Amino acid sequence: MRASSPHINPTGVTHEIDRDALRAVLDEVAKHDGGHRWSSVVPGGQRATAADVAALLDEEQALRPTRFVFLWGDDGDLIGVGTYALKVRHSFPFDGFPVIARAFVRPRYRCQGHYRSLLAARVAACREEVGEALRGIHLGTSNPAVAGAASAFQVIGEECLQSSVVVTAYLAFSTALADELVDDLHSVASSCGEALTLEAIARRIQRCGIGRRGYDVINALANNIEATTGFQVRAHSLAWSQLFELLEAIPVIHGESP
Ligand SMILES: CC(C)(COP(=O)(O)OP(=O)(O)OC[C@H]1O[C@@H](n2cnc3c(N)ncnc32)[C@H](O)[C@@H]1OP(=O)(O)O)[C@@H](O)C(=O)NCCC(=O)NCCS
Repeated sequence: MRASSPHINPTGVTHEIDRDALRAVLDEVAKHDGGHRWSSVVPGGQRATAADVAALLDEEQALRPTRFVFLWGDDGDLIGVGTYALKVRHSFPFDGFPVIARAFVRPRYRCQGHYRSLLAARVAACREEVGEALRGIHLGTSNPAVAGAASAFQVIGEECLQSSVVVTAYLAFSTALADELVDDLHSVASSCGEALTLEAIARRIQRCGIGRRGYDVINALANNIEATTGFQVRAHSLAWSQLFELLEAIPVIHGESP
């Protein structure tokens, strides 16, 4: 990899694990980005080793079935690395909900739009691998650059974390999921006001998401619909049960959670 090369044009995305590239990334994360999750992999002040790369790969796989994307400049220099997974957790019960996970753009290539390329490459990979079964792509971030690039994603909550950092949860809803969220309320929508309200939220969901405390809103509506009409939203609708399951798996803040 070249020593320095600002304003390089990215020409290549590769998917095979490149351990040398990851070693270089770990060195730069440790040096420049103490807050990044990968910064804890390398003991303070030391250079990354092959064992550190193996530990990083193990850690990512333990969390979820993780894949890597490498973004290269036209002179062969590494610009950045991103990860994605086809499930938010190994145990998540539904297919079709991949997650855009970690990202790192090397400091000398930042603020040139490369995160957008890394995001686009991972969204394309999710679409290709999941195909027509795609229901929604999840992304969580506290970083304004990531949020700024994720204009196709809608806010679905705030992630429930131990730290004080506010991580916003996003979902890029597929049209199929958004349509089913509306259609599955059809039989009950005319008989109760809460069902009409939930249907209205579903109609806007691809544009507006459900907002930062949206879980509480849709959960209360679903409970009230059941109490009023006996119609169980989750049991009746695969789409609603998938959305609730995803929000609970992330998990987003709801009820009494901090
Ligand atoms: C976060 C990170 C990936 C962004 O990479 P980048 O290549 O510099 O980002 P981009 O240049 O593609 O910027 C993406 C968008 O956010 C905007 N942006 C960049 N920095 C921003 C900031 N601090 N505040 C608000 N918007 C910002 C850019 O203007 C761009 O929007 P535009 O294309 O409409 O102009 C990079 O800074 C990084 O690797 N940081 C350390 C690791 C990290 O925090 N990763 C977070 C995900 S795990």
